[in-house]
Amino acid sequence: MDPAVMGEDAGAVCPHRPLPRGVQAQGLAFGDGPHRCPGAFLAIKESDMFLRRLLLWNDLEIVRHPTVGYNEIVKGYELRGLRLRLGRLGGPKGANA
Ligand code: HEM
Repeated sequence: MDPAVMGEDAGAVCPHRPLPRGVQAQGLAFGDGPHRCPGAFLAIKESDMFLRRLLLWNDLEIVRHPTVGYNEIVKGYELRGLRLRLGRLGGPKGANA
């Protein structure tokens, strides 16, 4: 969230923003230094697989947008209350063509 590092729109999700040398694309989501998360690669891979599978559905709809809060215990952001729905047609993209 530091504009000096992440730029003016530091809070926006933007995987392609230019970053200063040495700053990793995920910012501090996995910490840094000697206790940086050793599971980061696995977590990114899992998230990538999940999102690719989810976004295959062409009738996926957002029913309720999440609220964004901050959890003091883990010092991290929380998204709560997101509701998704698959319409009646169902099936992955291209399946109904
Ligand atoms: C999206 C998922 C994940 C996030 C956001 C995340 C984030 C973090 C953060 C912020 C830390 C603390 C770094 C610090 O103390 O400075 C951490 C530590 C750690 N994470 Fe993760 N993590 C994730 C998934 C995983 C997975 C999948 C594994 C194991 C397979 C894992 C294993 C660990 C371990 C063992 C530590 C302690 C490292 C240490 O204290 O030296 N994490 N993680």
